[in-house]
Amino acid sequence: MRYHELGSSGIQVSKMGLGTWAIGGGPAWGGDLDEQVCIDTIKEAINVGINMIDTAPGYNFGNSERIVGKALKEVPRDKVVLVTKCGVIWGGEGGVYEGKGTPWNMVGDRRLYKLLTPESIRKEVEMSLKRLGTDYIDLYMTHWPSVPPFETPIAETVGELNRLKEEGKIRAIGAANVNIEQIEEYVANGELDLVQGKYNVLSRDIEKDLLPICRQHKITMQAYSPLEQGLLTGAIPRDFVPGPGDARSNKPLWQPDVRPKVHDMLDQFKPIADKYNCSIAALNLAWIMCQGDEVNLLSGATTPDQVDMNVVAADVVLEPEDIQKMNELAAAVLK
Ligand SMILES: NC(=O)c1ccc[n+]([C@@H]2O[C@H](COP(=O)([O-])OP(=O)(O)OC[C@H]3O[C@@H](n4cnc5c(N)ncnc54)[C@H](OP(=O)(O)O)[C@@H]3O)[C@@H](O)[C@H]2O)c1
Repeated sequence: MRYHELGSSGIQVSKMGLGTWAIGGGPAWGGDLDEQVCIDTIKEAINVGINMIDTAPGYNFGNSERIVGKALKEVPRDKVVLVTKCGVIWGGEGGVYEGKGTPWNMVGDRRLYKLLTPESIRKEVEMSLKRLGTDYIDLYMTHWPSVPPFETPIAETVGELNRLKEEGKIRAIGAANVNIEQIEEYVANGELDLVQGKYNVLSRDIEKDLLPICRQHKITMQAYSPLEQGLLTGAIPRDFVPGPGDARSNKPLWQPDVRPKVHDMLDQFKPIADKYNCSIAALNLAWIMCQGDEVNLLSGATTPDQVDMNVVAADVVLEPEDIQKMNELAAAVLK
């Protein structure tokens, strides 16, 4: 495993983190998983050198955090860089429901709301600490920006995060799903050590804006959904269709008109994966890790075997001509 500094925090993190959205289960991921397998998955990640574990209250209404908390009981706390988030709440305490009916903000029959007031953050951090069974969070991240009519100025949100840092409840600050202007505001009000955004060989938006600004401010850029929620593993059958309410059902790359092109691309990735003696999943993860020193990735896995398969990517260094070939094949899907 390779390690690097998380932003300017002084905290060393593995180049690959473990994401636990799917481990939280619930309607967005087709139901709950075997809890012991989930705990074993987290422990296996730590075992193979992945020290960064990412969760969020919004991952099935606290269930992912609860499972991460159980796994944490079985490993030394200081071996883990624990990441959780604020700003996505439930339970009728205000905030904005973006009623587009997407699986993201409507999970089963329950709604998620966006809210980033200092008071709400303070309540959230206490609930997360309780569910996680710890007295500090290594990196605390805003999950989504707040939006009108409950929009909180970033200075106020960061002010509260800075206070939590002074109190020792959190060690570093991150922001997910933010744009350049929002990043500049975070930086103007405190130290921002991590930005999370979607990034994979077929989702390249961050290359234009977020990646350069993260480089400029020495912020770690962390790729989420690096395997497009499983599609880029090559393990999804061509005829698999995510059910209604599944978090993958509304994603552009999962739509029936695009899917055949993605599968054709993966077929052409296979000889490249064979050259490096790795799976197609590991090849796609390696492609992300080869995009720069400040690029980190969060790999979602739900079994110890998936962790073992994916961690191989940390040791795969792709030759420039193979990266170029993958870029060309990906461009053909996107045109
Ligand atoms: N900040 C945000 O807004 C945000 C948004 C999305 C994600 N995230 C974070 O980023 C993490 C990673 O993203 P993600 O979970 O969306 O997507 P991902 O890592 O692209 O895909 C994860 C899924 O791929 C499948 N998979 C992984 N490795 C596999 C392998 N070797 N063979 C076969 N299947 C494999 C598993 O599906 P099955 O479980 O079906 O086997 C797994 O749940 C999340 O867990 C979460 O922590 C953050």
